[in-house]
Amino acid sequence: MKVGVFDSGIGGLTVLNRLINDYPNNEYIYFGDTFNLPYGTKSLDDLRNYADKIIEFLISEGAEIIVIACGTISSNLYEELREKFDIPIIDVLTPTVRYIKENNLDNVGIFATPMTIKSGAFDGVVGSSISCPLFVPLIESGKINSKECSDAVISYLNELGDCEYIILGCTHYPLLMDVISKYTNSKLIDMGQCVSKYINIKNNGKLNVVLHFSLLSDELLENVSNIIDVSYEINEKRL
Ligand code: DGL
Repeated sequence: MKVGVFDSGIGGLTVLNRLINDYPNNEYIYFGDTFNLPYGTKSLDDLRNYADKIIEFLISEGAEIIVIACGTISSNLYEELREKFDIPIIDVLTPTVRYIKENNLDNVGIFATPMTIKSGAFDGVVGSSISCPLFVPLIESGKINSKECSDAVISYLNELGDCEYIILGCTHYPLLMDVISKYTNSKLIDMGQCVSKYINIKNNGKLNVVLHFSLLSDELLENVSNIIDVSYEINEKRL
């Protein structure tokens, strides 16, 4: 089965990794919109425009199911996209909410992008919600281990207050798992893990991974090679 996965940049690779790990016998086609990132501070019209073009591209490349590996697009446009396209579309939010409810998790907070928090999609499920606009630029520019990044983590954790669980409500944030864990004992919820647990995809082909990014750089190539440890083809593709 050919699975299309997309995000604004390398964040969705955390979801792709989970899928490859749990369903290794599939073809995966990934699109990271590095030319337009970050998505978390864009307007709804811009997000709609990006998502439409990417999904059309993934379908034209033979994707049979689409995974929106982006909290921002999932929380703002999932229902609309599902109605618009004639192909199964999975988001990262629905499985995460399902996981929280099924496991009766209590005292849950969330870190997410400004647009995800603004969407209110997690209201009622989480207590405290914090937007973390500094995280994605730090992650994409390879500054995960910088003091700047630790300072941002500490400050967002202080804002969030005491929570037993923290949803990493943006798919980039699992890349900060080690840094965040240094400063909190809260359990961190990775949305990619929730998606992979509930998704219904066949696992009966041969692993093949093709990655497309709308803007490639040496830094991006290095970041990708640190995240994905199976072999892959990587291309630049401007939509
Ligand atoms: N990784 C995406 C998300 O889950 C997009 C983050 C961004 O580009 O701001 O929200």
